[in-house]
Amino acid sequence: MAVCAVLLRWFAPVLYVLLFVLFVAFLAYCAYIKYIHMKYDHIPGPPRQSFFFGHMGTFTEMTKKDLIVYDKCIEWSETYGPVYRLNVLHRVLIVVTCPEATKDILMSAKYPKDKFLHKKMFYLFGQRLLGNGLVTAVDHDLWYKHRRVMDPAFSSLYLRGLMGTFNERAEKLMERLSEEAENQTEVSMLHMMNCVTMDVIAKVAFGIELELFNNNSPFPKAIETSLLGILMVARDVFFEYKPQNRGFIKEVREACRLLRSTGAQWINDRKKAMQNGEMCPKIFSHKSSNQLEKESMSKEDEEIMLDNFVTFFIAGQETTANQLAFCIMELGRHPEILEKLKQEIDEVIGMKRDISYDDLGNLTYLTQVLKETLRLYATAPVTNRDIPVDIKINGVHIPAGVTAMLSTYISSRMEKFFKDPLKFDPDRFHPDAPKPYYSYYPFSLGPRSCLGMNFAQMEAKVVMAKLIQRFDFTLVPGQNFDIKDTVTLRPKSRLFCTIRHRHTQ
Ligand code: HEM
Repeated sequence: MAVCAVLLRWFAPVLYVLLFVLFVAFLAYCAYIKYIHMKYDHIPGPPRQSFFFGHMGTFTEMTKKDLIVYDKCIEWSETYGPVYRLNVLHRVLIVVTCPEATKDILMSAKYPKDKFLHKKMFYLFGQRLLGNGLVTAVDHDLWYKHRRVMDPAFSSLYLRGLMGTFNERAEKLMERLSEEAENQTEVSMLHMMNCVTMDVIAKVAFGIELELFNNNSPFPKAIETSLLGILMVARDVFFEYKPQNRGFIKEVREACRLLRSTGAQWINDRKKAMQNGEMCPKIFSHKSSNQLEKESMSKEDEEIMLDNFVTFFIAGQETTANQLAFCIMELGRHPEILEKLKQEIDEVIGMKRDISYDDLGNLTYLTQVLKETLRLYATAPVTNRDIPVDIKINGVHIPAGVTAMLSTYISSRMEKFFKDPLKFDPDRFHPDAPKPYYSYYPFSLGPRSCLGMNFAQMEAKVVMAKLIQRFDFTLVPGQNFDIKDTVTLRPKSRLFCTIRHRHTQ
């Protein structure tokens, strides 16, 4: 007891000083927030709910309720115009729907990707996830070095050569659907699409036969969990400090570790196969294959290779699977569009088993349907850029230091850019229709646009064409058509369908 009293007497002054320092630091931070408000408050924007947290409450509440925050942003864009301000602590975000500014910002290398969010995705809860992979690399020179290495693997010449893999993997999906049709079971089409796109990326990028239709795999769950982790830190800056989130954070870390350890294993297998004279898949070819052949890669090079493994595994699979699932959902709701599509596929593909590269070019209505799907359901809905210099948007002066949020989901659902925007209407993308002007960019634009755009759309066309060629599908009644935000967007219901063979007689 006496010892405690002595300790308290000794430490009490230190404690007071510490509390005083903390109090002064807090006041200084509040003064800084006030300064930020004064600097940027001339930019229009919705009222802040809190001096300290700004608009963060709206985002965390909506995320908790499983709502889409971009829907709120559409409302605000309609009220506050083509550029408006949001605050989160001392950070200022501007939401931009002005087409000219969208063009200027995305098409230029002057505006780097948002450092704050990309840091969070680099290490997710202390576990490296996307690191310096292509999507998250902020340093321009580092990104450019890797992009140049990867570019040839996505050239049209090389992609033509992937038609065999697209056909073969889609054929596995058809076999599985055929069984489901015979058993008359309800099938989650989202799950099926995840299996086929993951099978494809594993095969073309790493030469691995995952055969997900016959094997249970932990990957889809690991990807979903790590994406949810990203969503949580993006929406709530205090998420990782709240004790109630510990269990989830542990799950996310395990998911990240699983993805990276699988990557390390596969890269190692590739290395050995190449040393035995086997071919290396092109996505990891050129410089990286030379690196692979070398026994001694620097630790950081190895880490970046793993970063790109995870990047391709997530970016190269999820977004396409979700697009396919949304597309099936809309076709299930619009029999007249499905009928028109059937006619086109019957004409172009007929009963053929292998779809050729040239066939894809003739599937114009399918192209329109897929584009319209991404207009309403941009599976990668947003991209952010730091604005390091003063700019002007639509007459509003934007001082340097903000982060610009550009969302194809938001502008594509605005009446200002698309008449009757919530109507699913593939004719908006008819070859003779006027092209949307910087209000529709599901693959982003400019130097940091999607590397896999053509790959994804070829794959999506092969899968959809085969599906419609062979099967009729009906949405299981009673499902909702809501969207789930897990950084990428997917159908909340997981899209259950019953399947029937089209040509049984
Ligand atoms: C429907 C399918 C897809 C959509 C909607 C989509 C969309 C996007 C978007 C919006 C970005 C920019 C992200 C940002 O700014 O943060 C992006 C980047 C990227 N995507 Fe895709 N993507 C799709 C499929 C694919 C596929 C199949 C691959 C690979 C096989 C891929 C590889 C990449 C890569 C590597 C980047 C980073 C590009 C860079 O910064 O250099 N994507 N994608």
